[in-house]
Amino acid sequence: MTSADAAKLRGQVVLLAPDLQNLSDFEAALAAGWSPDPRRAGDTAYVSGKLPRLRQNRSKYLGELIAHGKPHTGSGPPPLTTRLFWIWNGEFCGSISLRFHAGTEELPPEISGHVGYSVVPWKQRNGHATTALKLLLAVAKKEGLDRIVILCDEDNHASRRVIERNGGELFMRGPHPSDRPDQIKLYFQLRPCATG
Ligand SMILES: CC(C)(COP(=O)(O)OP(=O)(O)OC[C@H]1O[C@@H](n2cnc3c(N)ncnc32)[C@H](O)[C@@H]1OP(=O)(O)O)[C@@H](O)C(=O)NCCC(=O)NCCS
Repeated sequence: MTSADAAKLRGQVVLLAPDLQNLSDFEAALAAGWSPDPRRAGDTAYVSGKLPRLRQNRSKYLGELIAHGKPHTGSGPPPLTTRLFWIWNGEFCGSISLRFHAGTEELPPEISGHVGYSVVPWKQRNGHATTALKLLLAVAKKEGLDRIVILCDEDNHASRRVIERNGGELFMRGPHPSDRPDQIKLYFQLRPCATG
């Protein structure tokens, strides 16, 4: 039995590393119109543009999805590390990612916070994003991060609640270079701990 099967039996939400076995569930979510990028929610051209590439070469697509999580071996400044996970309760619920530079809590100015997440519409309002962020905080702690920053649009009440329920403290309000100048964001800081 895989850890995903065990989680299903227990009715738990877990974070799964994307692999070829669970890629079909991600594919089905895309085919249903879900966007893994919250900023492209409802952008059908963006979402449907991903499907042909996935179907043309599944291994290559998967490799590209998780490439940012591989250890840096080359010379020069290290690239941003991204740890991407599926939010899973026996079925695909969405995705969550942690992005960081090893050894520092600083981020390049164009990166909008350490964490991004999105839950498929048909699984929302069940506490899945709240649980997923709790689990991701434990991952962040293991990566040596003592402080992370998460941004959300000021009118994104659901995301704000997810962050606050995980101990997020509002420390700034304003635009971010990754978005339109008139899009006000809320900046939260969180202190990862080993148990999330
Ligand atoms: C934000 C998002 C991830 C929340 O996912 P979720 O699994 O539904 O969240 P949860 O079930 O853990 O709910 C957390 C809180 O938000 C509230 N909430 C959820 N959806 C809501 C909505 N549409 N409007 C208002 N509150 C909402 C819940 O009631 C809960 O509040 P509570 O703790 O006071 O009970 C989901 O709405 C989503 O994917 N949105 C699009 C992508 C996005 O905005 N990502 C975040 C970018 S910063």
